[in-house]
Formats: sequence, C-alpha cells, structure tokens
Amino acid sequence: MEVEASVTRPHRARRLPTIPTALGLLRDPLGTVERLGAEAAGDPVRIDLGLFRPYLLTHPDHVGRVLRDNCDNYPREGMMWRPLRRLFGDGLGGEGAEWASSRRLIQPLFSARDLTERLDGMAATITAGVDALIREAGPGADTGTGAGAGGGRAVDAEAAMTRIVHDTLVRLFFGGRIGADDAQRLGRAVTTAFTSVTWRMLAPFVPESVPMPGDRAFRRAVAVADDVLLPLVRQCRDGPPGDDRRDLVTVLCHATDADGRAVSDRRVRDDVMAMFGGGTETTALMLTWLWVVLDAHPHVAATLRAEVDAVVGAGPVTAAHLGELRYLRMVLQELLRLYPVGWIIPRAVRDDDVVGGVRIPGGSTVILSPYLTQRMPRVWPDPLTFDPSRFDPERAARQHRFAHFPFSGGPHQCLGGHLFLVEASLIAAATLSRCRPRLVGAPPRPKAAVSLRPDRRVWMVLEPRIARS
Ligand code: HEM
Repeated sequence: MEVEASVTRPHRARRLPTIPTALGLLRDPLGTVERLGAEAAGDPVRIDLGLFRPYLLTHPDHVGRVLRDNCDNYPREGMMWRPLRRLFGDGLGGEGAEWASSRRLIQPLFSARDLTERLDGMAATITAGVDALIREAGPGADTGTGAGAGGGRAVDAEAAMTRIVHDTLVRLFFGGRIGADDAQRLGRAVTTAFTSVTWRMLAPFVPESVPMPGDRAFRRAVAVADDVLLPLVRQCRDGPPGDDRRDLVTVLCHATDADGRAVSDRRVRDDVMAMFGGGTETTALMLTWLWVVLDAHPHVAATLRAEVDAVVGAGPVTAAHLGELRYLRMVLQELLRLYPVGWIIPRAVRDDDVVGGVRIPGGSTVILSPYLTQRMPRVWPDPLTFDPSRFDPERAARQHRFAHFPFSGGPHQCLGGHLFLVEASLIAAATLSRCRPRLVGAPPRPKAAVSLRPDRRVWMVLEPRIARS
C-alpha cells in the first residue's frame, strides 16, 4: 500500500492590496514590483489588480517548478504575451508544436560549438564597429594609431551599442543578403516595436479594444518588418539552394520541418524576427549597463582593464582571447544578476498546482522576475553590492540553479545566451583595449519597460588610454 508521506493542505496565497498596486504599476512599475517583492519575501503572493490577479513567485525553488520541473503546466501564453505575438508570430516566439519545430531547427546554429566557427568573423565586424565609434567620438579617443589628444565628443551609449550589435547580428542572420537601408529600417522597426508595446505588456488587464499609447507605432513597426523581411525571404528561396552559407535566413529557407515540409515564408519571417528582436535590444542594453557600472566601480574597471591589457594588449581582439577573459566573464554574469534586461517572465497556468504550499489555480497567471529573485537578500547576501567574485566558477557552482536565471530556464531558455556572452565580451574587450569610457552626467537608475532600461539617456566620452609601457 502506498502511503503519502506528509500531506499538508495547500493554503491560499496572501493577497496584496488592489488599488494602490494597480495605480502604482501605472505610475512606477519597477518601484511597485520591488515593493511587492519585498513584501512577498520569497513566499508566493497574489497581486490583486481587480480583473487581473496574477501570482508572484520569487523563491528559486518556485521558479524552478514553473520553468523546468512542471513546465508543461505553465505554457508561455496569456495576456502579457499576446501583444508580442503580432511581432514574432507563432514559431520561436510562441508555444506548442510550431514553437518546438522552430526551436529544433534554430537551436543548433547558436550552440557554443557551431558559433565557434563564426567567431573570427564576428570579432572582425565588432572591431570595425568599435573603430567607427571611436572615430565618431572624435579626437579624444585613442584609435590605436596614435591619433587623438583629448576633447572628444559625448556619444549616446545605447545608440552606439545598438549599432555595433545590430551590424553583428545582420551579418550572422542575413549574410550579405540585406542592403544597408533595409537593415537600418528593420533595426529602427524593432526598437520602435519594443518601446511602443510597453504599455500593453505592463497593463495586460486593459482589453485590446481599448486604444493605448503606442498601439499605432507598434502596428507601423510590424508592417515595416513585414515589408523588409518577406521579399527577402522570397528572394532567398528562389536563389540557388544547397550552397554552404550558414546565415539564419538561408538555413531556414532550405530547411524542412519534422514532417518533411518546407518552412513557410511567414514562419521564416517570424523566426528571423524573433531572433533579431530577442537579440538586439537585450544585448545593447546590457552593454549600456556595463559602462554605467564600470564608471561607478573604479576598482572593478581597473581589474578588468588590467585583464584586457594582459590578454588582448593593443589588439585587435580575436576569438582566441575569449577563453582567457575570465574576469570579464564574471563581470558580465554579475551585471546580468543586477540588471537582467528580461526582468519579468509571465506564464499561464494550465491545471491547478501547489507551489510552496500554496494552491495555484488553473487558468491563472504566474509572474517570475529575475530582477526580484536576483536581488533577494536571502538568496544573495548584500544583494545590491556589485561583486563579480560571486561568479568565481567554484562559488557559482554552489548556487541554486534558479538563483540566477537572466536567460530563463527549461525548454524556453534563451537561445542567444552563449551568443550574448561572446558578443558582449568581444565588444567590451575591443572597446577597453582602445579607450576608457567615462560617463557624462548623473548615473541612470533602472526603469521597467518591456526590457529593463536606464531611466535617462546615458552619455559617455571615450578617453584615450594612457600609453602602455
Ligand atoms: C543579455 C542578453 C539576453 C537576455 C537577458 C535574454 C533573455 C531572455 C529570456 C529571459 C528569455 C526567456 C523568455 C521565457 O522564458 O519565456 C529569452 C528567450 C529568447 N531569447 Fe534571449 N536574451 C538575451 C539575448 C538574446 C540573443 C542575443 C538572442 C538571439 C540572437 C536571443 C533570442 C532569444 C529567443 C529566440 C528566445 C525564445 C526562446 C524560446 O522560447 O524557445 N536572446 N531570452
């Protein structure tokens, strides 16, 4: 006879109050979420927003239950995802059989092994991008050719990082297939789509029939993406098959799904968009936060510069340097802990479940937040201190798998995690080997949009490096 070990009746989650929360979310989304996280202190709680009453789960055990251990019960569906479907479609950005088919085709292209072959090409694109940035910043920056002696111009850090990331992804995804004008139109459309959908994502309780700020700009951005991508996909399909080009569009156009059918034009468009949308703003914002954090922590910046000097010297940075940039890797992990750009991960609940002793009813929504879990004092002592040594490989190995989940986890784990780490390492090392970014103006604070972004523009000057001995 089977005996159930210890059966405790699931209790109801504590409710956090309705009106102040709803108003707070509209007025100060991140501050309100931080307050809710502090009140929850790791316990499941229910946020009462009137018609919409999601559960907030912050404890790493609870996060693991949703993302990995019982993930079939928590599909990526529901009100908060709906607005993004219009941009990304139903493949890689969706759920179910179509998502699985896209994921199977694309994941191998972005694995560590497959990317290795393409790293030298990436390093060359990135070095050219950093050189162009330094030229744009003017004579204050050291181009490595001896030019420049102070007085450079301030550059918008996010715009500068976006340009370099964008050029890198355009090469990886389109090879030489896309013209510069179309690449720029697509880049602008992605930025507009992400900024304009913020209200819909943060206020999912507002019905779609009620117009919201950003709706029109979002629709226009989706139309531009269609306009650029669909003709490109058709051209690629009509071109000669079987060449050995490994860019994303070519691979998808000549692939077949599990049933042996060609991938439709619409699906290629959707999946390229999901990769492009998922990879541009996230990486550019993380790099923007990197310059903010290095400016605020001179001792971290000095240690990092010493490593880059020892490994890369006067450059240029190459793929061969990556394995030796160990401190840089730790800095990036700590950056992802405190400034996880994917700060909120909602899921629908299919059937009733019990999480942390609390009954989570089918049909409801759960919200996970890397931002809250990764700043929880009971998980990360002294959580607000920026300390890369937390990610010393031995120390990091002792951490709970879901104490740090900036790339999510389980079947939907980010496809670009490895790409981000190599791309960001190359961009950071290329920049630091040539100049010393310094912030101008007051440091920004994090602000919640679709991504976690600075609450003001970040301006920086690129000071020349003092000549190395
Ligand atoms: C710092 C950089 C990045 C962060 C913080 C980040 C974060 C995330 C998170 C949190 C998810 C999971 C969403 C969920 O569980 O529902 C995700 C999924 C995804 N990311 Fe990233 N991402 C980053 C970079 C990239 C890059 C560089 C790419 C591609 C070029 C990319 C492409 C994707 C895709 C396609 C998915 C959907 C995967 C799926 O559902 O199967 N991401 N990302």
